[in-house]
Amino acid sequence: MSRSALLNAPASKDAGVFRTWAGSPAEVHLLGLEGWERAAIEVLLDRAAHYRAMLRAGRVSDALRGVAVCLAFFEDSTRTRVSFELAAHRLSAMPVPLFTQGSSMSKGETLLDTLRTVVSMRVELIVVRHGSAGAVAYLAQHLDAGVINAGDGAHEHPTQGLLDLLTLRDAWHGRFEGRRIAIVGDVAHSRVARSAMFGLRAVGASVTVAGPPTLMPAGIEALGCAVAPSVEEAMRDADAVMALRIQRERMERSLIPSTGEYARVWGVNEERVALMKPDAVVLHPGPFNRDVEITSDVVDGPRSVVLSQVENGAAVRCAVLERCARARAQLRNERLQHVAPEICA
Ligand code: NCD
Repeated sequence: MSRSALLNAPASKDAGVFRTWAGSPAEVHLLGLEGWERAAIEVLLDRAAHYRAMLRAGRVSDALRGVAVCLAFFEDSTRTRVSFELAAHRLSAMPVPLFTQGSSMSKGETLLDTLRTVVSMRVELIVVRHGSAGAVAYLAQHLDAGVINAGDGAHEHPTQGLLDLLTLRDAWHGRFEGRRIAIVGDVAHSRVARSAMFGLRAVGASVTVAGPPTLMPAGIEALGCAVAPSVEEAMRDADAVMALRIQRERMERSLIPSTGEYARVWGVNEERVALMKPDAVVLHPGPFNRDVEITSDVVDGPRSVVLSQVENGAAVRCAVLERCARARAQLRNERLQHVAPEICA
């Protein structure tokens, strides 16, 4: 199948099958992909493919009617925030956006107090992006709501990991085994890279990372990936490459000599893309800095799947919202039955 035929193909044959989650309490939150089993990932990707078909058909679902979903973004975002908001609308939920500016956090209220206030208004799910690794897990412990991680510091970005897996599953014709991706750039500060590594490892693909030593975390091999000394070695014969933005906002001081030098030594360009397998694809989570970590011709070129990633992001977020809302409903019923059985009778 040609690349464009592949991208425009209908969702997988599983797409119409309505597989629901049991609603286990463990599924109330989505904090990271670390520790996920392959089977659980595949169920979620199949459900996302179902939602992708629905979105392509311009349809809307009733799955989350009446469920309030707070979108609490304490760091800038375009793709993740807009796609979560759209996903909530497409499922007939009630999205409630919340930012630092314009909320009482700008008056000194703590993160927990602000979100407890929101939850008291019967908000069932909170999607959180925060600059501190671990902030989302802390909230999940202290809030009576399902908490979904939309990126916490340099820790994890699980819905990005899932949308990357869905994009690669399509590009690789449904098989992860024997495939290898090169992840190139600022690995040290990348929650995207960490979630991708956990997910790819779980489904049986292999990962090679490459980047400047100052942007490579010590002990990265413990996450199950290989480290290449150069971008060329990482990309040679790879089945995909993921370029990462330099996350200056997470650096206390500059860790690279200059952007020109960085682009020359570590940038993903046409010459380097030609080292990969003929059908290999190019991913980037966005936002991209054109002609720094990736050249403009590669972003816009035939191997680029960056817009498929964005489309898949909306579908994955539908599946994740549904999963957490179902688990949450299940949990609340159990609690209601326990506390006041007459209400459920
Ligand atoms: C990433 C993020 O915020 O972690 N972007 C995204 O969610 N699509 C990567 C980045 O900011 O470079």
